[in-house]
Amino acid sequence: MRAIVQDKYGSPDDVLELREIEKPVVEDDEVLVHVRAASVHPDVWHVVTGRPYILRLMGAGVFRPKNPIPGTDVAGIVESVGKDVTRFGPGDEVFGETRMEHQWQNGGAYAEYVSVPQDVLALKPNGITFEQAASVPTSGFIALQNLQGGGQIQPGQRVLINGAGGGVGTIAVQLAKAYGAHVTGVDNTEKMEMILSLGADHVIDYTQEDFTQRDERYDLILDVASNLSLTACKRVLMPNGVYILIGHDHYGDATGPIFGSLPRFLMLSALSPFVSQIPDMNFSLLSKGEAMAVLAGFIEVGKLTPIIDRTYPLEEVHETMRYLQWGRPHGKIIITP
Ligand SMILES: NC(=O)c1ccc[n+]([C@@H]2O[C@H](COP(=O)([O-])OP(=O)(O)OC[C@H]3O[C@@H](n4cnc5c(N)ncnc54)[C@H](OP(=O)(O)O)[C@@H]3O)[C@@H](O)[C@H]2O)c1
Repeated sequence: MRAIVQDKYGSPDDVLELREIEKPVVEDDEVLVHVRAASVHPDVWHVVTGRPYILRLMGAGVFRPKNPIPGTDVAGIVESVGKDVTRFGPGDEVFGETRMEHQWQNGGAYAEYVSVPQDVLALKPNGITFEQAASVPTSGFIALQNLQGGGQIQPGQRVLINGAGGGVGTIAVQLAKAYGAHVTGVDNTEKMEMILSLGADHVIDYTQEDFTQRDERYDLILDVASNLSLTACKRVLMPNGVYILIGHDHYGDATGPIFGSLPRFLMLSALSPFVSQIPDMNFSLLSKGEAMAVLAGFIEVGKLTPIIDRTYPLEEVHETMRYLQWGRPHGKIIITP
């Protein structure tokens, strides 16, 4: 099969190659998916470059990637199944992340076929394309678990999504609306119209205005762009409001090369028993399979429409990764075999 392969960590232009390799073999609890689309997001960049370095010790592979094929989100058609698989059969259209673990490791999705544990997949919702389905898993999981788990979102709350026009933000805006919140989206000038079209009640252009200096107060701030300080956010949070950091490293520009955003997460975690506006970081998580089913439900009833900026073929993986880093995409980027 054709696949993008990396034998070492480094710049995407230097280390990513399109090659012919063997098709994966399914384990007993795995499903072989004929890939129709995979998504391109900041965590793919992190694992390709091996930065921050700590991710190499967190399962990605110390000296080189354990799995040489990037990509963690997939949509496609089941080709065959392992002997213990009960939930899917050949011909099913599925979507989901490709691994049970966190996103800081390669998942094998940038290929014609990928072998995936059945527990992380769900049936692809009707009425959306494979490209749209592939755009949802990682971003949708982050948006859902942080709004629902960390944020304990409630109807009628005033929710601000900082970085509302990117991969996580375009889903978070729609989920927050689906949960009955009043939603403000913050992003750059060119994304204002799109964010309003997703259902946001209000938008703020970060290039023109600093929302932390305004009079409005929020029950929940979801900081996807991760450029805000807790002190600035406390000024515009209700006394019982919460601040949630997502941890965007801006491709190494915003954080250090060794630990990335981890020191900020650790600091917030240490402060959370003393600062009411920081949620307990040990909130219970949905499993990935459960999260996919919840997200599929929102898509089926029309409350979540995945937003694709553009789609590239595997052959253009270098252009794809450059567009991710510098193209300022509206929503998600997709790559197809
Ligand atoms: N916490 C978790 O559970 C978890 C788990 C896995 C991954 N992550 C992290 O989550 C992040 C996901 O991000 P994503 O895919 O949504 O990224 P993205 O597509 O790059 O979106 C970020 C958005 O923020 C905007 N932005 C940039 N600077 C801003 C500012 N100063 N104020 C407001 N908005 C600003 C960007 O717009 P411009 O076009 O202007 O730059 C962009 O629209 C990744 O970094 C990933 O590593 C978190």
